[in-house]
Amino acid sequence: MEEAEMLPADRFSDAERAALYRAIFTRRDTRGEFLPDPVADELLARLLVAAHHAPSVGFMQPWSFLVVRDAAVKRRVHDAFRAADAEAALMFPEDRQGLYRSLKLQGILDAPVNLCVTCDRDRAGPVVLGRTHMPEMDLYSTVCAVQNLWLAARAEGLGVGWVSIFRPDALRAALGIPETIVPVAYLCIGHVSGLRPGPELEAKGWRQRLKLAELVRLDGWDGPAPDGDLRAALDA
Ligand SMILES: Cc1cc2nc3c(=O)[nH]c(=O)nc-3n(C[C@H](O)[C@H](O)[C@H](O)COP(=O)(O)O)c2cc1C
Repeated sequence: MEEAEMLPADRFSDAERAALYRAIFTRRDTRGEFLPDPVADELLARLLVAAHHAPSVGFMQPWSFLVVRDAAVKRRVHDAFRAADAEAALMFPEDRQGLYRSLKLQGILDAPVNLCVTCDRDRAGPVVLGRTHMPEMDLYSTVCAVQNLWLAARAEGLGVGWVSIFRPDALRAALGIPETIVPVAYLCIGHVSGLRPGPELEAKGWRQRLKLAELVRLDGWDGPAPDGDLRAALDA
């Protein structure tokens, strides 16, 4: 096949870079802020196109997107969430269970659009370029699609909340997903009244953002922490 002409690896303009970083830094997980306003089909399509342009191992594109708008289907999913949520609460130490229960951890019924992003691990046959020794790469590829969608949604002024408090089989049953397909992400999507300035779990004292410099090591797991300009920039 003939090679297409290369595009320039140009640096984005200052405004373009600022817009990209704004999407990254102001993206939030949204749960309690959804408005009932419908999401236009063209807008939803732009998010799905962004997701579909994610990288994937061996160009496998293992994802499918189940768009849920039907109230009865949402209720089935919400029932699956409630069952798992009750189980999850009991797994935390007793002194954290009250805080856990006070958190709103989903917007399934509030968000006008729910989206289940799935991974078909057999989409490209049993041997996939790049997945031979690390079989989980197809799942990671699907997560790349989710992140693309999440950032595109931020740029479009939409909120997205990821709900993972499900027994996978209960979620499969609620949506008729075959056993061979992995439900990777369940997303609540819609217009929102606003975005929190930082993670809600941080604001509520559940967990703080870790110091980036402590997560970086040079030339191996036991290598030194960065110093000099890199360290100063990471600490800034
Ligand atoms: C894989 C994944 C699963 C998540 N599952 C849930 C969830 O079930 N309920 C919830 O409230 N938030 C969930 N979140 C959102 C995280 O709590 C949130 O991303 C984190 O607290 C940081 O906040 P931010 O996304 O607003 O920056 C999930 C996020 C990811 C990436």
